[in-house]
Amino acid sequence: MREAVAAGVDHIDTSDFYGPHVTNQIIRQALHPYPEGLVIVTKLGGRRPPDKSWQPANSPQELTQGVHDNLRNLGLDVLDVVNYRHIGVGHDLEEGPIAEQVSALADLQRQGLIRHVGLSHVTAAQVAEAQAITDVVCVQNQYNLAHRQDDAFIADLARKGIAYVPYFPLGGFTPLQSSTLSSVADRLGSTPMQVALAWLLRRSPNILLIPGTSSRIHLRENLAAAELTLPTEALAELDGIADAAVKH
Ligand SMILES: NC(=O)c1ccc[n+]([C@@H]2O[C@H](COP(=O)([O-])OP(=O)(O)OC[C@H]3O[C@@H](n4cnc5c(N)ncnc54)[C@H](OP(=O)(O)O)[C@@H]3O)[C@@H](O)[C@H]2O)c1
Repeated sequence: MREAVAAGVDHIDTSDFYGPHVTNQIIRQALHPYPEGLVIVTKLGGRRPPDKSWQPANSPQELTQGVHDNLRNLGLDVLDVVNYRHIGVGHDLEEGPIAEQVSALADLQRQGLIRHVGLSHVTAAQVAEAQAITDVVCVQNQYNLAHRQDDAFIADLARKGIAYVPYFPLGGFTPLQSSTLSSVADRLGSTPMQVALAWLLRRSPNILLIPGTSSRIHLRENLAAAELTLPTEALAELDGIADAAVKH
């Protein structure tokens, strides 16, 4: 983490429910006192019971507790950005009201414990519902070369000046694998994951990247992806990957 920040990374994505608590404690141990300009973005709305499932924890009391857990474990007086992570019944996005949760975060914002509110795993209707309560600065949804259901949503958020932060940018637990991706990477003298990140950066100006890694070598590779230029014909080939994924 120290190497990442020294190399210029100024945006770290976390949650106190990872671990729980451990991830934030590690961030604090590695980086506190935090350098000026480092933005730590956390998320609330879930909990991990002992069976390691994901369960909603989205009552105003649980959200307030979550903010205090994040503050304590990160060693902060105020959180830069807090995403409300909507957890429905399944893995897919689910419509449904989020006003109670966003209002709870807006209250915490008024108390000075949160600077900005974001949303995660939400639809356009849920963003509109939240915007009537407070400004929404970012949306964090699943999106990558093979998982493109948010294509139109990203453009809509860009027009509204809202950042889009794709989670699982490299495929998460099932890393992206595609012969097209590998062949484009070979031709450009880069790695498939670098091409996947460069493609995301090219997709829309409001995209911010949060690739996860436990490896210094991958960290360096991922940072170098920012310098990779994708020729037009490579972009066209990469755009075909999602169509092939849907057909499967
Ligand atoms: N809002 C939500 O609901 C939600 C859900 C999931 C994740 N997230 C967030 O999304 C972010 C990324 O999540 P993630 O780390 O699970 O997914 P990811 O970034 O898509 O994938 C990480 C995986 O890719 C590997 N990897 C990273 N760089 C690589 C490289 N250059 N070459 C080869 N493999 C590479 C990592 O292995 P190594 O460790 O070996 O590099 C790890 O297995 C995190 O900040 C997480 O908090 C949010």
